[in-house]
Amino acid sequence: MTSSPMLRVSDLRLSYSTAKGDLPAVDGVSFSIQAGEALGLVGESGAGKSSLALALMRVLPRNVAHHSGVVELEGVDCTGMDDETFRRQIRWSKMAMVFQGAMESLNPVVRVGEQVIEPMLVQGHVAKKEAAREARRLLEVVRLPAEAYDRYPHELSGGMKQRVLIAMALILKPRLLILDEPTSALDVTVQAQIMDQLKDLKKEMDLTILFITHDIALASDVCDTIGVMYAGKIAELGPAERVLRSPSHPYTRLLLASVPRLHQEEQPGFIPGSPPDMVSLPLGCRFHPRCPFVFQRCIAEEPSLLAAGQNHQARCWLVEQRP
Ligand SMILES: Nc1ncnc2c1ncn2[C@@H]1O[C@H](COP(=O)(O)OP(=O)(O)OP(=O)(O)O)[C@@H](O)[C@H]1O
Ligand SMILES: [Mg+2]
Repeated sequence: MTSSPMLRVSDLRLSYSTAKGDLPAVDGVSFSIQAGEALGLVGESGAGKSSLALALMRVLPRNVAHHSGVVELEGVDCTGMDDETFRRQIRWSKMAMVFQGAMESLNPVVRVGEQVIEPMLVQGHVAKKEAAREARRLLEVVRLPAEAYDRYPHELSGGMKQRVLIAMALILKPRLLILDEPTSALDVTVQAQIMDQLKDLKKEMDLTILFITHDIALASDVCDTIGVMYAGKIAELGPAERVLRSPSHPYTRLLLASVPRLHQEEQPGFIPGSPPDMVSLPLGCRFHPRCPFVFQRCIAEEPSLLAAGQNHQARCWLVEQRP
């Protein structure tokens, strides 16, 4: 018997109502993550990465027009769960998240330790003293000095604040951690330290990770699987090794070519054009206006995710034409 994946997402859809019409930010996304593994969700700004994460956590903006799809955690379907049950049984305790830009939303007048224990106190059933003990332990786990507990956010560096947020997300011992651009505001050295830390956490705490970033090289550092998102859809999904070494979607190839490399003479390339207007999407393949390999069929018909190898799929007609 094979066990259920830690997270299985099927046909997730989320659209916003805007003055220009409905905007399908997440448009039929499916993937799963096995326990103890990390999936990297990569793509340019506006691809729908954060919207997808917010939908998983059920923290949705008010102007959501449509939200559907199935989300299963360890084989349990959370879809039909009412919001109160989801808040009590799932959010923070089974699935937690470090939100994009959350460093800026730490409360400047509350000591960081008090903020770390907040999810625990909200959940109830625990004395503050016990919560504080757990928070100090976690600060140590994320390699912060114990005194950090009594500091205010402005007394900490960006890297330290990001560690505080990770500790906060881990306080209720979730098995699944979503990190949305956790290092994009940090300089390269601190970024590397946080990535090392995540790799350790994944191993030591047997965490399952959904890592969201626009930086495919960064994702490949910690992730077993990579999902490339373009204009609300998965463009390519497969084992990290495969996606990096033999990318099947032209968009993935351009993303990889745009990564600056150390010790390389060539200038990194850039991706021509810009992502589509999400309210009036191009017909056919959403990437076709920017694709160097576009041909007639791409303009007329949108490809589904096609098999590009074992556990590897790409939404591109060229995949079908390969022998
Ligand atoms: N509350 C909202 N109302 C209307 N449109 C929204 C809302 N939030 C996001 N969008 C739009 O939905 C699309 C997806 O946005 P989202 O923030 O999910 O992308 P992202 O991949 O996380 O981008 P980034 O890399 O910049 O964080 C974009 O076109 C964005 O403008
Ligand atoms: Mg985002």
